[in-house]
Amino acid sequence: MSTNPEEAANQLLRLTKLRPRLGIVLGSAFGGVVDEIEVEAEARFDEIPGMPASRVEGHVGKFVIGRLAGTEVLVQAGRLHYYEGHSMDVVTLPVRVMAAMGIGRLVLTNAAGGIADGLDVGDFMQITDHINLMGDNPLRGVEYSGVQQFVDMTDAYSVELGQALGQAAENCGIKLKQGVYLAVSGPSYETPAEIRAFKQIGVDAVGMSTVPETIVARQCGMEVLGLSCITNTAAAKGGQAITHDEVLAISTHASQAASKLLKMFCGLL
Ligand code: HPA
Repeated sequence: MSTNPEEAANQLLRLTKLRPRLGIVLGSAFGGVVDEIEVEAEARFDEIPGMPASRVEGHVGKFVIGRLAGTEVLVQAGRLHYYEGHSMDVVTLPVRVMAAMGIGRLVLTNAAGGIADGLDVGDFMQITDHINLMGDNPLRGVEYSGVQQFVDMTDAYSVELGQALGQAAENCGIKLKQGVYLAVSGPSYETPAEIRAFKQIGVDAVGMSTVPETIVARQCGMEVLGLSCITNTAAAKGGQAITHDEVLAISTHASQAASKLLKMFCGLL
């Protein structure tokens, strides 16, 4: 690890007098939330020592500190993905930085392929649990003082934050589903056989992020809320090819509802 999370945390804290206790990572489909923030300070990823710029189309790559529905937040717009070739250390550095800033609650959002029969394109799914099939673990080989290496994952996703999200969805008239998210490394999408297998082991949606961040957040003692936007039907179910453009197009479409939902959620905290 080339970057000291404390150093990066102090750099961000020096930009503002706000002391957010809530962090929000915006994946595809949730990027529009950034326009809803009363911004106090911003920093691009590459302004933080040890963090590369984000390269994926549709992902901006910056930290924004401000207020969302009156709640002080640090928003990470875009993320560094494992499939871009970044190490797990780099992928999860923002979570360690947020923890070092005193952020205790983390909202992780993403775009995902729907596997469960009840999930339609454009649906939002609260992640109730996950399966890590990325073939790597962000805690492997790294030792940080003051945290445990063997981290319990029994209650990875906070029931309390999930209830607040459920209430927010109800208030907005947005349908919120619940399910198990499985993470693959990507960047190839899944084969029909993989999706059939995932369905058999209890997976509702599949994506290429979030799980490493949840693991590190739990190591740091943070409460985690996971939220997926279903941008496509996973391979095998739809019988159609999946393209990144399709995922981005649905992401844009869902952006307004995503902003409404997260704003309402923040207002309830
Ligand atoms: N598979 C994996 N990751 C994804 C998908 C998918 O179908 N859709 C959006 N991210």
